[in-house]
Amino acid sequence: MNNRFLLTRRHIIQLVFEMLVGGIGTAVTSRFINFNNQLQARDNPNKKFATDGKFSLKERAAIKDLIYGAAIQYSQLLSDRELANQVKCECKMLVPEWELKWFTGKQSLRPSPGRFDFGRADWMANFAKAHGLLFRGHTLVWHEALPPWFQNTVNSQNAEQFLEEHIKTVVRHYAGKIHSWDVVNEAINPSDGRSDGLRKTPWLKFLGSDYVELAFRFAAEADPQALLVYNDFGLDYDTPENEAKRNAVLKLLERLKSKSTPIHALGMQAHLQGDKTQFNSKKLKNFLRNVAALDLKILITEMDVADKNLPVDIKVRDRIVAATYEDYLSVVLDEPAVIAVLTWGLSDRYTWLSEFQPRRDGARVRPLPLDANFKRKLAWNAIARAFDNAPHR
Ligand code: G3I
Repeated sequence: MNNRFLLTRRHIIQLVFEMLVGGIGTAVTSRFINFNNQLQARDNPNKKFATDGKFSLKERAAIKDLIYGAAIQYSQLLSDRELANQVKCECKMLVPEWELKWFTGKQSLRPSPGRFDFGRADWMANFAKAHGLLFRGHTLVWHEALPPWFQNTVNSQNAEQFLEEHIKTVVRHYAGKIHSWDVVNEAINPSDGRSDGLRKTPWLKFLGSDYVELAFRFAAEADPQALLVYNDFGLDYDTPENEAKRNAVLKLLERLKSKSTPIHALGMQAHLQGDKTQFNSKKLKNFLRNVAALDLKILITEMDVADKNLPVDIKVRDRIVAATYEDYLSVVLDEPAVIAVLTWGLSDRYTWLSEFQPRRDGARVRPLPLDANFKRKLAWNAIARAFDNAPHR
């Protein structure tokens, strides 16, 4: 039997409910079949995702002048030798997933207003240098991952001082050792209702809309060589929300460029959903073209494919996840301004999605190129194929 058509418990409950309310015919046709038809259309059991040669992802990317890398946590890299080996083998760039945010619990960069703790991030920077990887910073200004002391310490009188001190101290510390910085992260949220699309954050409240520009100026003063990036999510699909976000991000980038702000690139996080069908390559391409026309580079900064709503069958799941990677990357890599592809993690053993988007059936999520035992999956093949088929930069 084809496992694509196996029912999950949620589907059975929903189906029984709809049968009671609307009759068997309505329930079956309106819901379950539609759901599976859409997924079926995303899956091609005959596609093998074949790749040529034995090159790693970083080697395939480098042939096209692209960079491949991944976000990893310090404690994982330190304690898991096999993960470290895979990072060395597959990646040309390393991004600390936690260690350069203001606050990540006990492992904090900014434990108190007067103290910076670079220990973990330094260890990662040294790992990168020792193994020939580029190092990338995430992130200087974000409304999340702020320390508990922030709320009672930072206010409209001292916010600019805190912003400047934080950015300059951290950016100077890594000057000459870092490829790029996510200077401002996730500053756009059209549903907050402002005409400029800015998200309502503490930084906006204290400093007004100029805080974004200010942050880039502080970063450029501290390290004139680093590539300075604005990073955001929700730019990928043909939905009204993503369309509004693309428009607002583009307007922000236009505003920044018109004021000669030292911004050099857009980071597209690209947290994709395997079951989402609203993908419009033309709209995505247009957006990338418009960004590139502002003389900005583009990095795919946090790519992964959530499989929360996909069938449990691993073969089907992996095929859909792989197809999602290949469909997306084949479009974005067509744009010459795209210079890097980073996945948010490398192996399914360590992914934020197992905590934030777990499967209802309890099966382990499989959003990344390597499985939990570091075996290459179809997603790895899909990324490899996208690099192989990409034009030279
Ligand atoms: O606070 C506790 C800490 O005390 C403890 O040591 C630790 C042990 O597990 O848990 C800590 O909380 C964690 C927190 O990060 C630390 O700040 C959460 O469990 C953890 O889930 C949390 O999530 C991270 C999140 O950013 C917030 O920083 C994710 O791992 C990380 O993948 C996620 O990354 C974000 C990017 O920065 C921006 N784009 C979206 C992306 C995914 O959400």
